[in-house]
Amino acid sequence: MKLPNHLAIIMDGNGRWAQLRGQPRVFGHIKGTRIAKKIITECSRLGVKNLTLYAFSAENWLRPEAEVSFLMKLLRRYLDKESQNLVKENIRFSIIGEVERLPKDVIDSIQKTMRATQECTGLNLIFAISYGSRQEITRAVSAIAQKVRDGDMSPEQINESVINEHLGTAGTPDPDLIIRTSGEKRISNFLLWQAAYAELYFCETLWPDFTKLDLMTALADFAARCRRFGGLKAENSPPPTQYSDEQLLH
Ligand code: IPE
Ligand code: IPE
Ligand code: MG
Repeated sequence: MKLPNHLAIIMDGNGRWAQLRGQPRVFGHIKGTRIAKKIITECSRLGVKNLTLYAFSAENWLRPEAEVSFLMKLLRRYLDKESQNLVKENIRFSIIGEVERLPKDVIDSIQKTMRATQECTGLNLIFAISYGSRQEITRAVSAIAQKVRDGDMSPEQINESVINEHLGTAGTPDPDLIIRTSGEKRISNFLLWQAAYAELYFCETLWPDFTKLDLMTALADFAARCRRFGGLKAENSPPPTQYSDEQLLH
């Protein structure tokens, strides 16, 4: 089966999952973390090369302070508990997002996990934390503008590669498939530039209910899609026409 080289997942629906059970929203986040762990292992086993998980958006800072602070503790606990397992599974960990907005202890745990896994050569696991695509693009534009102002680059040198190199995702290929759970059909400020030709897959399952089978279903759906990137697939090319362009346009 043709796998995405880069799979990105918007893990949505934790709060609703908990509320449906009469539990506080944070219960959904706890279960959601367990599901993330399972899906990471499964992607690694399948041989997916890059996996980006949207864990906390730049806009999620707007949530009640108690929920935000719980999410931060959960993230830290996940990293501290999982670091060694990631090494065992040969998974390289990194993050995208405005890391400086995170609490100091979370930043420390992120850096420790990145250091511990930096030699790993298997799955490239990227957490999007405090991540917003518009913020990422804004930063890139600002950094490029400064280089132009300082005379290190001319405006004519700005091309798509230059922009790519100034994004948090520099060095990682664009996502081939983006999965969003929970029935919402939007991107919510995730990888806007990078998703130019990503295949989108939306499913109703709330993230804490997401299973390996759901993952396989999404991957099978992806494998069956025809990606054209604006061109034509050879077998889809129209037969040669006997009419000239002028006749057709008349
Ligand atoms: C996704 O689940 C996790 C985060 C955004 C941190 P939500 O918390 O958005 O759950 P719903 O969408 O409210 O159900
Ligand atoms: C997107 O989910 C962010 C994450 C899954 C981390 P949200 O629940 O924050 O998105 P909206 O607010 O429904 O668009
Ligand atoms: Mg949500």
